[in-house]
Amino acid sequence: MDNQLTKPEILIQRIALIVVAIVLAILVGVLAVRIVKHSDPYVKEVLSLVGDWKQGNAIFQINCAGCHGWQANGRVGPSLHGVSKHKSPYGLIHQVVSGETPPMPKFQPSAQEMADLLSYLEKL
Ligand code: HEC
Repeated sequence: MDNQLTKPEILIQRIALIVVAIVLAILVGVLAVRIVKHSDPYVKEVLSLVGDWKQGNAIFQINCAGCHGWQANGRVGPSLHGVSKHKSPYGLIHQVVSGETPPMPKFQPSAQEMADLLSYLEKL
């Protein structure tokens, strides 16, 4: 009789403990990703600069318009209008410098060029 009374309590305690552990693990994970993202010196530098969208437009015409169209409304690559609504500044920088989504190549703009490009992309 005693056993039957204590067992469900222990079970609930265990479940609660597991839930707490999972939530903690997720929090630590999210925090770690944030720290890694924001400690990237290149990203940090880009985000500390003020971008000039007109300069960014010029950089875009030379490097990106072939695929994304001169008004960024899409050709081989997708339209980039409203892209900053679903990609964070970090996501946009990463998209340009990583080369993780072929056929889009990996670019290596200077921090100022990237800041200009970013301000152009955020205006679309
Ligand atoms: C060789 C063609 C090509 C060139 C050049 C190119 N891109 Fe792309 N880009 C793509 C393709 C294809 C995708 C879609 C990749 C995917 O998501 O699989 C893409 C995706 C993107 C995305 C993400 C779009 C989204 O909706 O999430 C951004 C932002 C972007 N490109 C910006 C740029 C910028 C800025 C440049 C110039 C520095 C550039 N691209 C040059 C082909 C290209």
